[in-house]
Formats: sequence, C-alpha cells, structure tokens
Amino acid sequence: MLDLLRTRRSIRKFQDQPLEKEKVEILKEAVLRSPSSRNVKPWHFIFVDDRELLLKLASSKRHGAEFLEGAPLGIVVLGDENQTDVWVEDCSIATFTAHLTAHSLGLGSCWIQIRNRDHSDYDSAEEYIQDLLAIPDHMRVESIIAIGYPGEEKEGVALEEIDFSRVSLNTFR
Ligand SMILES: Cc1cc2nc3c(=O)[nH]c(=O)nc-3n(C[C@H](O)[C@H](O)[C@H](O)COP(=O)(O)O)c2cc1C
Repeated sequence: MLDLLRTRRSIRKFQDQPLEKEKVEILKEAVLRSPSSRNVKPWHFIFVDDRELLLKLASSKRHGAEFLEGAPLGIVVLGDENQTDVWVEDCSIATFTAHLTAHSLGLGSCWIQIRNRDHSDYDSAEEYIQDLLAIPDHMRVESIIAIGYPGEEKEGVALEEIDFSRVSLNTFR
C-alpha cells in the first residue's frame, strides 16, 4: 500500500491498448468495496468504453477532461442524493479507490471533476452528462475517472517534497 501511495500519479496520456476483461472486473469489484457512510452505498458506476461516448464525455466541461478521448475506459461515478446527504464523500472515496486500484493493476488514471463544473454558459457538466447517459436527476454526477495503460511516465513525489508542516500535533499551531 505504501509503495502504491509513493508511486501514484495522475496519468492523462494513454496507450492505444484495450483493457483486459479481468482488469475491468477487478475495477468493478474495487469500487463496490469502497466504504460508505452508514454503509448506504448510494452510488452507481457507469463503465464507458464506447469511443463515441468517451469523445462526448471528453467535452463535458471546458477544461480538464480532454484526455478522456484517448482513454479506453471512463468510469462515471454517480451518487444518489435522495439516499444520503454525504454522497459527495462516499463517491469521492469510490473515485480514489478506482484511481489506486488502477495503479495497482499497472494502469494509469486521472480524476475528472464534474460536480460544480460548467459545460457551457447554459448548462452544467453534470446536466450534460445526465442527458448524454440517460441518468435520472437524483443521481448526481461526482466525477469521471479516465483509465488506461499509461502513455506517459511520471515519478512518484519525492519524500523531500512532502510538506510535513501541513500536519501538527494536538493543536493547529
Ligand atoms: C477532487 C479532484 C479533482 C480533480 N479534477 C481534475 C480534473 O478535472 N482534471 C484533471 O486533469 N485532473 C484533475 N485532478 C487531478 C489533480 O490535478 C492531481 O491529483 C494533482 O495535480 C496532483 O497530481 P498527482 O495526482 O499526479 O499527484 C483532480 C484531483 C482531485 C483530487
């Protein structure tokens, strides 16, 4: 686990190589094993491997989602706001679980923020995706995680660069 944390980076370039079915199944299992408040599991995950849909999702917001076009898989993470008031937290943990599991499988991935982001002057990224993927209003769109074999190499952050001043003992200062 520590090794995964030390070597994990966000990967935004991907090889033109499909994912093995077994790896996709492990990703499904991993997100569904995420912890959730009161064990409500308020989520739904849409695994998107359709090239046309991935292309459309890549333009779901103005910046920061373009690289989804080159990924063989995008996982759209949804939370049911009718089931819990902490769907954001639950879905965030699930998104990070997918990110870390992808890394453990030798895959690269990157979180794409959707909640609170605009698609255009007229609609939000969330509304655009709900419309595109036939998602009901109460299933809120938290994020998309782009996943594929890495097409770029990134070093893990060196220990010397870790800002330990952000942690204190007993009181803030
Ligand atoms: C909540 C959250 C939202 C993010 N949204 C985006 C995004 O929309 N697009 C993107 O390219 N990266 C996004 N990222 C990735 C961050 O930019 C990245 O984690 C950060 O720059 C640190 O780099 P590293 O993950 O390689 O350590 C997001 C990360 C988090 C945790």
